[in-house]
Amino acid sequence: MSDDFAHRYGPWALVAGASAGLGAAFAEQLAARKLSLILIARQRPLLEELAARLGREHGVSVRVAAADLGAPDLLATARAAADGVEVGLVVYNAAFSLIGRFLEQPLDEKLRIIDVNCRGPLILADEFGRAMAQRRRGGILLMSSLAGARGSPLVATYAATKAFNLVLAESLWDELAEEGVDVLACRAGATRTPGYETSKPQGKVPIMEPGPVVAQALAALGRRPSMVPGLINALADFFLSRLLTRRAAIRVMSRATRKLYPPSH
Ligand SMILES: NC(=O)c1ccc[n+]([C@@H]2O[C@H](COP(=O)([O-])OP(=O)(O)OC[C@H]3O[C@@H](n4cnc5c(N)ncnc54)[C@H](OP(=O)(O)O)[C@@H]3O)[C@@H](O)[C@H]2O)c1
Repeated sequence: MSDDFAHRYGPWALVAGASAGLGAAFAEQLAARKLSLILIARQRPLLEELAARLGREHGVSVRVAAADLGAPDLLATARAAADGVEVGLVVYNAAFSLIGRFLEQPLDEKLRIIDVNCRGPLILADEFGRAMAQRRRGGILLMSSLAGARGSPLVATYAATKAFNLVLAESLWDELAEEGVDVLACRAGATRTPGYETSKPQGKVPIMEPGPVVAQALAALGRRPSMVPGLINALADFFLSRLLTRRAAIRVMSRATRKLYPPSH
């Protein structure tokens, strides 16, 4: 199984946003499948610690690049990080988000969400997708969210970028299939990560651990255009998409987000 995976998506995987949370779990599970890794994130010490551990435990090579995926020179950074190696899989995991009312958020912060969440994956899909298409082999996995399926008040810009990730991946799933490249969007629900915990959600929602989200996403790569990890998330998505009107579904999202992030929080 691990041989098949490495043959199809190896020898190197690039994980963008790899220092913690779901990105670190992707790195871990890809190393277990014997892929060598290029790990990108801003926090170099976390990357180096993870790289040393994965190299030790799984016997794979690991390169790290401490960089901001929202920076204008992302393409040059990615090219330098991948210099001389064959990247057979790109996982774009990093995201930036703001919670609160759209008009109360500074424009430059909202534009930064677009840079990290949309410009970044577009650049890496273009750069590495082209090389994969030439080799007629490879995979691209973009992290989307259940929030990207419809209007999501109080996370409007973030949710819109997650719709971008979903539609980009699903479109490329069809286009690049002709070139032998598998593309997948993972539409995650609440997942226990540093990013989620830092947002200090109030109250309880069903939450998944990063490991099962990543395992389910990797298992779905090459099998479908997008996937929702976890049965509860899949049921919630079915309810919101198929049983409610669009207007009602947006209201449900609005109420849920306001409950999780009350004005005083
Ligand atoms: N957690 C959830 O509940 C949830 C739900 C639905 C979808 N998702 C999606 O899952 C993905 C991962 O979420 P997460 O919760 O694991 O996030 P997280 O805990 O905030 O971790 C994000 C990772 O990306 C890196 N990163 C963030 N901004 C970066 C930047 N500008 N440049 C380089 N690296 C950057 C972070 O490392 P550094 O700080 O070292 O840069 C970290 O390694 C996102 O695409 C998110 O939309 C998450």
